[in-house]
Amino acid sequence: MRSSLIAGNWKMNGSLQSVIDLVEGIKAGDPGNAELAVCPPAVFLMKVGGMLAETGISLGAQNVCDREAGAFTGEISAAMLKECGCSYAIVGHSERRALYLESDQLVAARFSMALSAGIIPILCVGETLDEREQGVTETVVTRQIDAVLDLCGIEGIARAVIAYEPVWAIGTGKVATPGQAQAVHAFIRAKLEQLDSGVAQQVQILYGGSMNPSNAAELLSQPDIDGGLIGGAALKADDFLAIAQSA
Ligand code: PGA
Repeated sequence: MRSSLIAGNWKMNGSLQSVIDLVEGIKAGDPGNAELAVCPPAVFLMKVGGMLAETGISLGAQNVCDREAGAFTGEISAAMLKECGCSYAIVGHSERRALYLESDQLVAARFSMALSAGIIPILCVGETLDEREQGVTETVVTRQIDAVLDLCGIEGIARAVIAYEPVWAIGTGKVATPGQAQAVHAFIRAKLEQLDSGVAQQVQILYGGSMNPSNAAELLSQPDIDGGLIGGAALKADDFLAIAQSA
């Protein structure tokens, strides 16, 4: 039985004070049975990590460098994230792929670095509206996952979380229907099943894209949806906790 993970991706939002308030709000609430993780902007990781000590809430980064150390201005290594207390790192978020031109191979390299530092990568995959309309959703998701399989194998996926995030649903208020989301989640699990059924059954596959307290319960009740990667609604402690409670 897979447990539910509700992860908040705070993106580049907030200030030191608003981040402190948000963490206090989440700590004060009741997440039900779901595991929680929060991914604040990197400059606040140490602060948030300290505030989360002994709460059971995990800390995650929004990205991780594909190299170990050295002259990579502006990047943050997996080992540094580990020292900040990160258990998770998002890799391949569609904003990174689209706005910062991260290729499937770069995302795979980032994934690999996270694993080697003992950080659980949250691998984001998903199609654009154009790709959905062209009927190539499965091709796109396959290509994105195959890049990681080529570098890290199914053993790598076994130590990761996958997040299916249709690009057209991110930050748009347009949410995939539970049926649309479930179909892609089931496709991903079936694809992994061909390589290792134990891994396929155990790996958590989160949904992301305009999940909020009013649509979460139905999405999270789908058999292959094991949690959520939440953007906008994760910036309000009450909404984030309400989503967790419906898991
Ligand atoms: P959203 O973002 O919930 O604001 O759509 C999700 C994400 O980008 O992970």
